[in-house]
Amino acid sequence: MLAIIGGSGLTQFSSMDIVRREVVRTPYGEPSGALTFGRIGCQDVVFLARHGYGHTIPPHRVNYRANIWALVNEAKATQLVSVASVGGIRADLGPGVVVIPHQIIDYTWGRSMTFFEGGGENEGRVVHVDFTEPYDGALRERLMAAAARVGEVVSDHAVYAATQGPRLETAAEITRFERDGADIVGMTGMPEAGLAREAGIPYAAICLVANWAAGRADSTHAIRFDDIEAVLEQSLGRVRRVIEQLCD
Ligand code: HPA
Repeated sequence: MLAIIGGSGLTQFSSMDIVRREVVRTPYGEPSGALTFGRIGCQDVVFLARHGYGHTIPPHRVNYRANIWALVNEAKATQLVSVASVGGIRADLGPGVVVIPHQIIDYTWGRSMTFFEGGGENEGRVVHVDFTEPYDGALRERLMAAAARVGEVVSDHAVYAATQGPRLETAAEITRFERDGADIVGMTGMPEAGLAREAGIPYAAICLVANWAAGRADSTHAIRFDDIEAVLEQSLGRVRRVIEQLCD
């Protein structure tokens, strides 16, 4: 079973034959919404809208633990593809570019970011998971192959900076992230990827660059939200096609 977590602009998959929806409770509270089970092509999938089906949950309030727990323990998903929109920092990653990142830098804070808190269902266990390669190599390869099959050019080498949000960054923050080695910036990549690793589910992300990051190119003085909406509307179909191909 393939799990898909959809981000901004992707709250449903029109090509998905929906079989049922299931409201799940977890030891960590409620996921962002009901799990939607169905098929895309010949693949069984379970879909979850990260920000809720009405896009009401901001990035810092997403219950990442409940989402991952529900997909792994309730839906029995065996792999997880995350879809997210990001800002582009690197010069070749402008609006409309599709990116399959290979690394993460985590700048988030104050989020519940582990299943191994020292209490709850894992009481008494101190666990340090390996996170050297935060994304699953085989799942990334499959996403890249699917992209190639539909003729989609993707950037497969990019460091994702995970920021706290919900505000966008200052130009100086973006310059700092760039100095750190970041190529794209988003608000939801962590703790999602870390929790997926803790839960033992292979995880990869496919990101659509929605805008130039703050202080870059046509975002030199401000980021225009109308432009973001337009890019998402125009380009998310390409991300959808890659995932549909992955399921074929
Ligand atoms: N910054 C952070 N998150 C984002 C951006 C951005 O510029 N664009 C889309 N998600």
